[in-house]
Amino acid sequence: MQTQVGIVGAGPAGLLLGHLLHLNGIDTVVVENRDREYVVDRVRAGVLEQGTVELLRAIGVGAGLERRGLRHEGVYVSFKGCRHRIDMAELTGGKAITVYGQNEVVRDLIEARAATTRPLYFEAQDVRVGDLDASTPVIRFRHRDSEHEVRCDFIAGCDGFHGVCRPSIPEGVLTIHERTYPFGWLGILADAAPSSDELVYTHHDRGFALFSMRSPTVTRLYLQVPPDEPIERWSDDAIWDEMLRRMTTSDGWTPNVGQILQKGVTPMRSFVAAPMRHGRLFLAGDAAHIVPPTGAKGLNLAASDALVLARALKSFYETGSAEWLDRYSAICLRRVWKAQRFSWWMTTLLHRLPEEDAFDHQRQLADLDYLTTSRAAMTSLAEQYVGLPSEVSFESVGL
Ligand code: FAD
Ligand code: PHB
Repeated sequence: MQTQVGIVGAGPAGLLLGHLLHLNGIDTVVVENRDREYVVDRVRAGVLEQGTVELLRAIGVGAGLERRGLRHEGVYVSFKGCRHRIDMAELTGGKAITVYGQNEVVRDLIEARAATTRPLYFEAQDVRVGDLDASTPVIRFRHRDSEHEVRCDFIAGCDGFHGVCRPSIPEGVLTIHERTYPFGWLGILADAAPSSDELVYTHHDRGFALFSMRSPTVTRLYLQVPPDEPIERWSDDAIWDEMLRRMTTSDGWTPNVGQILQKGVTPMRSFVAAPMRHGRLFLAGDAAHIVPPTGAKGLNLAASDALVLARALKSFYETGSAEWLDRYSAICLRRVWKAQRFSWWMTTLLHRLPEEDAFDHQRQLADLDYLTTSRAAMTSLAEQYVGLPSEVSFESVGL
């Protein structure tokens, strides 16, 4: 097989890139190692920045988002038992976030891909990339017992943090920046109507908690727990007990309780691999960087990488100039580092650190007090939470 751009991974980064390139007449093959059901059912992110929503609409996959997406113009920060609302729309000239499950985004993008009839292989086994420095790098994999080789002009490594693309880059090329945190998140989906229209980020003496949702009947909640906490240690009753203890505020607000539909523990990590390119391999999304979920930035960064890479590839195919491809990594990393800083700040503001002392605790409370009383501080949070302006215009990718 031959294609212009071989895409490894059918997550948000790979599927968005594939669709943006399709709209520009650029041929792609997408290779994914999981099956379609797994990819569509995987419960992950839920918060879309204003720009991510606009991008999905502009590429023609906004119908589900329009029907089922929940637009939030504000967000709550809760500490010392009181909720404080930050009016994001008022502080940012009308911008907002939209709650819409990542699995829904992925389902919509897979449907759009299928309609193009361009190839998308699920359940590809033993996926490898090679000849990254040559003029035609290659993706090899096995599919239904036959071996495949895809010769490409470029490869987009969109295969997430545990994928094969980043480890295929020779030793010594990448500089890795990493921070692990001494806690993880226990997350649940519950069959319960959300008791708040907007998200609630809670600082509590027993640890961080987050109230979110997926639909008018499904609540999504998270608890700070030790890293690698075995989920078996938590009965459903114990989870609800701890959620309610941390989240209930002095005015009586509390989440609605319901049957737990799904539960799991996620570790927390900040990670950046630079540059996001080696030869003709370009990394995008979690393959290149991970943020702790407190800032709700991971999926949105995957979308912005895809947009910048589409811009660069379009420019290459239209003009023959590699100038944008050469700038790809630097353009993305500027945004990535701002999202890293924001996610780190949100994380260290809201979580209890095992080794913290009274000074750290008081500083956190002062930071929260300042955040919820200063218009400047609220504006800073709001403009980052709804998403900083995009580095490339939609017009430049033909939208
Ligand atoms: P992925 O979604 O990981 O996709 C990579 C794809 O590549 C997968 O489909 C995988 O199966 C495939 N793959 C892997 N290895 C191979 C291989 N060898 N060959 C072929 N295919 C392969 N982000 C937000 O913006 N907002 C949030 O609210 C938020 N909340 C989160 C909550 C949780 C609990 C978690 C875990 C993450 C959250 N994130 C959030 C982060 C977000 O989910 C990720 O940043 C996002 O999925 C990144 O997209 P991606 O396409 O880069 O990678
Ligand atoms: C979610 O709804 O899953 C969610 C919301 C906000 C975050 C992280 C996850 O910061």
